Amino acid sequence: MNNGKLPRGKFGWPVIGETLDFYLSNKRGYPEEFVVDRMKNYSSEVFKTSLIGEKIAVLCGPSGNKFIFSNENKLVKSWIPQSMQKILCIPESNTKLRNNLSEFLKPEALKKYIHVMDYNVRQHLDHDWAPNQTLEVFPLAKKFTFSLICRLFLGIEDPTQMAKLDEQFALVTPGFLSFPINLPGTAFSNAIKACKFIRRELRKTIRQQRLYLSEKKRDSETPNHFLSHILFATDDDNKFTSEDEIACILLVFLIASHDTTSSSITNLVYHLADNPHVYAQVLREGNEIAKIEGPEKMLTWEDINRMKYARNVVNEVLRLAPPVQGFFREAIHDITYAGFTIPKGWKACSSFVYWSVSTTHKDPKYFPSPEKFDPTRFEGNGAEPFTFTPFGGGPRMCPGSEFARQVLLVFMYHLVRKYRWEKLIPNEKINFEHGPAAPVHGLPIKLHPHSDNK
Ligand code: HEM
Repeated sequence: MNNGKLPRGKFGWPVIGETLDFYLSNKRGYPEEFVVDRMKNYSSEVFKTSLIGEKIAVLCGPSGNKFIFSNENKLVKSWIPQSMQKILCIPESNTKLRNNLSEFLKPEALKKYIHVMDYNVRQHLDHDWAPNQTLEVFPLAKKFTFSLICRLFLGIEDPTQMAKLDEQFALVTPGFLSFPINLPGTAFSNAIKACKFIRRELRKTIRQQRLYLSEKKRDSETPNHFLSHILFATDDDNKFTSEDEIACILLVFLIASHDTTSSSITNLVYHLADNPHVYAQVLREGNEIAKIEGPEKMLTWEDINRMKYARNVVNEVLRLAPPVQGFFREAIHDITYAGFTIPKGWKACSSFVYWSVSTTHKDPKYFPSPEKFDPTRFEGNGAEPFTFTPFGGGPRMCPGSEFARQVLLVFMYHLVRKYRWEKLIPNEKINFEHGPAAPVHGLPIKLHPHSDNK
């Protein structure tokens, strides 16, 4: 029943609310502090705050996650902050992207990508890792992920074009949680400029692909990537998607897949360096798989399914450093939750991921000794429902979750079988200042190829 009692909490300063606190806890590398402190202070798993100019109810814990994920489009709907809307120039809900993408991320499609992933990881390690004794992991992980996605989904092969786009992408995410004031030099203004550039480049690619595909008359050799599909897909009124709309869809898609996956690759390398016993177990499992059909053989779907321990390692990386910190939902009606009212129009910040770093991912009730890197915690039945949510949940759960897991597994398989490595900054901090979790200095490491020990 709606009793009009708002959750406890503060709206903070005029306009900026509690944004500064939120930003500083991200910068310190402990985004959970913002939530945990308030949960303790208000003795509640729901509290109110104000961030980036919006009144927000933060729902925490598995029950908060469950509530948000099960009430999508009933009590809450997707909402993105104004800054993000202005930067990306996209509508709030991008169902066209989701509808078109699902075909390319379903299990049958993923099976076909394994060879491409395998080939790209080997090529990347040979070209970008092998010539160096020391290197910075994060920039290379970004380069690798971006080129894989450009090839697989957009048909872009030209490394110069990829590098040009990649450079601009680095400017986009820092603008998302900034104030939407377009002053030169601000993160917001840089992100707007970068998006304009990216959209122009994407439009060029769309035109090139359209020309190429119409000349080929879509015969059996026609590439079947996401862009080729969406170019010829029609809506209910039999209309093709416009060039601007496709550019917009591609932009969101690239943003959703790029930094997230590269952040996880980097954090994977980080945690394997810190946990030699985990590294040794991943290597053992990888060597067993390689023995089955020979080390030079391309990985197969069956091989991916044999990577049981490695899959738990990926989960543990996503638990400790979830790349996506949280997402907003808007209350469609007045909502009654845990005895409080969340008024219509308020943004209910779902507690999944960002909030759950503290409320579930790092809660000892669900993950004993939460700071310990322990992949075996995912053995057996795994995590309790709604406690492990790096990809969100419900109807809007990340459609790329299995794609991302597969990339991480293929990458880890080749990396551990080629190298050992050590961190050059032993306690390098991971923070969330520019979006996805990333080591502050880009994770410099020293490589030790296994071939040196032979
Ligand atoms: C480790 C990597 C990744 C993580 C942690 C991640 C996480 C997430 C999360 C938390 C959401 C928000 C769900 C919500 O609003 O409730 C999301 C949305 C999305 N992700 Fe991922 N993601 C990853 C990789 C990918 C990849 C590789 C792709 C594409 C191949 C992808 C495509 C998308 C898309 C298109 C959306 C928007 C879905 C919508 O609006 O309904 N993501 N992702």
